[in-house]
Amino acid sequence: MSNNIITGIDIGTGSVKVVSARKNPETLNFEVLAKVQKPILGVRKGVVSSVEDVASAIKECIKEIEVQINEKVDGVYANANGSHISCSSSQGLVSVSRADQKISSEDIDRVIQAAKAFPVSKNKEIIDVYPKEFIIDGERGIKDPLDMQGVRFEVEVLVVEGFSQYIKNTSQAVLDSELQLYDVVINPLASASSVVSSKDKERGVAIIDIGASTTSLAVFEEGNLLHLAVFPIGSNNITNDIAIGLKTDIDTAEEIKLNFGSCSAQKGDKKIEKVTSKELEEVVSFSRGNLRKIIEARVSEVFDLIKADLEKISKNQKLPSGIILTGGGSELPGISELAKKEFKLPCRIGHPLNFTPEIVDPKFSVACGLVVVGSDLDNSEESSMFSGIGNKIKRFFKMFIP
Ligand SMILES: Nc1ncnc2c1ncn2[C@@H]1O[C@H](COP(=O)(O)OP(=O)(O)OP(=O)(O)O)[C@@H](O)[C@H]1O
Ligand SMILES: [Mg+2]
Repeated sequence: MSNNIITGIDIGTGSVKVVSARKNPETLNFEVLAKVQKPILGVRKGVVSSVEDVASAIKECIKEIEVQINEKVDGVYANANGSHISCSSSQGLVSVSRADQKISSEDIDRVIQAAKAFPVSKNKEIIDVYPKEFIIDGERGIKDPLDMQGVRFEVEVLVVEGFSQYIKNTSQAVLDSELQLYDVVINPLASASSVVSSKDKERGVAIIDIGASTTSLAVFEEGNLLHLAVFPIGSNNITNDIAIGLKTDIDTAEEIKLNFGSCSAQKGDKKIEKVTSKELEEVVSFSRGNLRKIIEARVSEVFDLIKADLEKISKNQKLPSGIILTGGGSELPGISELAKKEFKLPCRIGHPLNFTPEIVDPKFSVACGLVVVGSDLDNSEESSMFSGIGNKIKRFFKMFIP
């Protein structure tokens, strides 16, 4: 891409967010050149349901980005989201091919291909494969097997799958916006790329991105991706609960959430607030305490789903770097205190790291993460070196480039 500018497009259910940035080779920070957020139609629970509507929102954003950076955007990195995205574990086994028994990069490719050779359910595709550990002649826990010696060569991987049609819709929306699509990255991994430091990934951490209608989870330990999931519940569900609980319309409920919402007990809990609903032409009265209870119930439900997932992988209460919350839903006051209580772990709000000027808005974590992934891919293509665990193995979406 010209001038090393990388553009990430986050197609969210509530809005599309676009960031264009360039990595400074000296400071290694990403210099933000343009940043745009616009409302979007045609996305349902994180999935592109109307290619036409999404393409038109992308076009509008890119027009604005091009004015800000004063040049044309040729291609972008985009996200894919939705609860159809799932992960499972798999293993691969091959014999080391070279006579001197040194493991070559071809052996690494072969063993990973072997781990991918299992039946995928109808309409689903493997999006990516992440090695957790390599095993040489029974010796486990090897991260970089290149040039090591052995005969029996195995790998344990995490396979990420998704519905092909949903992912194709995302690709089509980008292509219909007259842009090249360099790659598609799923939401939990995009957020993690900009928000989670390598140190936290090494120690053990869970990142939770609370969007408008989805919540995604990615868990890392020893630098490896251990687990990911996308749940079809987000911050808009809180708005819906407020509308039902306070018997008002959605716009008023959203206004109440943004201005008075909280999910931890505060001093003024008994205070009665009044908001006028333009749609219903009436005044809604509520106590802050009652509003908090409505919000807390929904946020706890989301945290319970995540806790159950952490339990399944035996990581509940066992992640030393704790929980990082991001996405628009993480802006709710008191949410990290509630998370701390529920998960019994340290918890904080995460926003993109190493972007200048600093982006403190957690809604931009996915768009910034796409820029980070794009920059890593550009570099790995330039050096064309296999860098072991953590590297994406299959640049699946290249096939969509026109
Ligand atoms: N200050 C705030 N307090 C509470 N909630 C907020 C705040 N700001 C934004 N939100 C909520 O965050 C949500 C939007 O977040 P975000 O932009 O991350 O979602 P999205 O990416 O469009 O959706 P998704 O990832 O689910 O497809 C909305 O539900 C909005 O009400
Ligand atoms: Mg989102």
